[in-house]
Amino acid sequence: MSFRRTLVLGTASVVGVATLILAPAPALAAQPPSAPASGQHDDSLRDLGAKSGLRIGTAVSPAGLADPEYRELIADQFSSVTAENEMKWETLEPVRGQYNWGPADRLVEFAKQNHQLVRGHVLLWQNQLPAWLTQGVADGSIDKDELREILKQHVYNTVGHFKGKIWHWDVVNEAFTDDWETGSAPSGVHPERFWVKHLGPEILSDVFRWAHDADPKAKLYYNDYAIEHIGQKSNALYEWTKQQLAAGVPIHGMGFQTHLSTEYGFPGGFQRNLQRFADLGLDVALTEVDIRTFVDSPETQEPLTPALQQQQEDYWRQTIEACLAVRECVSYTVWGVSDAQSWVPGWFQGMGSALLWDEHLQPKPQYFDVQEVLATTDAEHRTGWGAGRN
Ligand code: XIL
Repeated sequence: MSFRRTLVLGTASVVGVATLILAPAPALAAQPPSAPASGQHDDSLRDLGAKSGLRIGTAVSPAGLADPEYRELIADQFSSVTAENEMKWETLEPVRGQYNWGPADRLVEFAKQNHQLVRGHVLLWQNQLPAWLTQGVADGSIDKDELREILKQHVYNTVGHFKGKIWHWDVVNEAFTDDWETGSAPSGVHPERFWVKHLGPEILSDVFRWAHDADPKAKLYYNDYAIEHIGQKSNALYEWTKQQLAAGVPIHGMGFQTHLSTEYGFPGGFQRNLQRFADLGLDVALTEVDIRTFVDSPETQEPLTPALQQQQEDYWRQTIEACLAVRECVSYTVWGVSDAQSWVPGWFQGMGSALLWDEHLQPKPQYFDVQEVLATTDAEHRTGWGAGRN
């Protein structure tokens, strides 16, 4: 489960990379007079996003953080960060009772130095759990009561450790059934996923309550994939969220992972879907954006054709446009920086090219697309915590 790709970055000097990345994009030549004067920092995604009060984030790995070029790019381009794996349970507590805060603490410190906010990821999820926990449940040495207590302690310890330093917590991740697996069965909370299977569906509400208790100022999110379109899964999630809010469960935001692929159409009704969740009184966020496509590989023999490239660019534009169009959409996070360290090739055979920078850390056309949309939008300014420039 703990796939890691080696970070392979280009050999260009820091200055060379920065110049390339920060140079005004051709597309920006057409920007209106009100846009910032072109030059250095004003063209970064973070500064362009700040015009609308929108945080632009990325997932960060320790390997990335150790690389000077990559660090500089993250500092320049992004106003929020998410730990790609370092706040997941298997990393935080690999041995029962022994916490490994170091990697996550280093990211939080980096964020502070660079005036970035942190999205905490993740508290309750069925993946990347430590073996001592899953094995203990499987062999019966951890019973239901103990499991609930372990989870509660994990939430209090983790949220408590980072108290005051986390903007958003992804409290519950990927708990709903997918459109394609429901068939004639009703969509809803997945009965077979680890936590609900062992502790029942009410555990989802409990985790929100515990997290809120441990850090009352953090904004608490439900986060999931394949909820971008209006469909069975997002409808079921919408109904569940309404019920939770009516029952007073402290849910403050809805995270749309937005792992898209050119294999499928663009999610139908994405903007309307974001808006209907926002209309429940929630903030919304695009939390893990990447747009994968077929790449030239021995397995598929599919080249990255101009048509696929164009389709990717259209999708990138549409995702940032959908977020900007909904005033409650407060952050837009891409799931990594360079194609060289994206999770996609390891998880989706024959696919890749899912991010905004190539494997040599050079910005791709989709980077300039996102930049242009941010530069030319007349979206309303976001409000609330995080909507400032820094
Ligand atoms: C992925 C990471 O990017 C990989 O490095 C790791 O091996 C597996 O998890 N949904 C999520 C993220 O919520 O935590 C996942 O991140 C991608 C899918």
